[in-house]
Amino acid sequence: MNPRLKSPELKLPAEYEAEAKSQPVFMDRRRFLNYSGWVGILGSLSVALLGFLRFLFPRVLFEPPTAFKAGPPSDYVPGTVDTRYTLSHRVWIVREPEYFYALSAICTHLGCTPRWLPSEDKFKCPCHGSGFKRSGVNFEGPAPRPLERFKITLAEDGQILVERGKNFRQEKGEWDNPDAKLFV
Ligand code: FES
Repeated sequence: MNPRLKSPELKLPAEYEAEAKSQPVFMDRRRFLNYSGWVGILGSLSVALLGFLRFLFPRVLFEPPTAFKAGPPSDYVPGTVDTRYTLSHRVWIVREPEYFYALSAICTHLGCTPRWLPSEDKFKCPCHGSGFKRSGVNFEGPAPRPLERFKITLAEDGQILVERGKNFRQEKGEWDNPDAKLFV
C-alpha cells in the first residue's frame, strides 16, 4: 500500500479528549447490522426448532381407554346408578334388580355431561336442560334421542368389563342386544 494514502492518525485536542472518553460509546452502523443479522438468523432457527418440536409432539386429545374393569358386581347396590366412573370414563353403571347396563354420560344434544339426580330419578343436562330417565330415554329438552349404552360383560377374573368402543342405540333396537345388558 502506498504510505502516502495512509490516513493520518486523528488526534483530538487535549481539552476534548477527556470529554470524549466520558461520552457513551454507540455501536457503529456496520457492527449494528452484523448483530441484527445474527439476531435474525437465531430467531429464524428458534422458530424452525419450535415447529420441529411441535411436529414431534403434536397436540392430541388423550382419550380414556375404551375398555375398563369396573370391579365385581357385588360392589353395586341393586336399584342404584353408580357414578364412580362418570368423570374418568363418562359412563354410569346402573344396577337394576336383575341386570346391569352401562350408560353413556354424553348428552345426545351437544355432548355435555348430564348430572344424575337421585331424588328425581333422572339425568339432567346442565347445558340446555335435556332430561333423561334412569334407563337413558330422553323425555325433556332438546336432546333428540336416548343416551347410548355400552357393551357390558363379565371378565374372566369376575369383574365387570365395560367396552366403550361398542355402543348400542335404543332407537335402532340395539338395547336388546345380549351385550347391552349383564345378567348376574
Ligand atoms: S348438550 Fe345437553 S341439552 Fe344441550
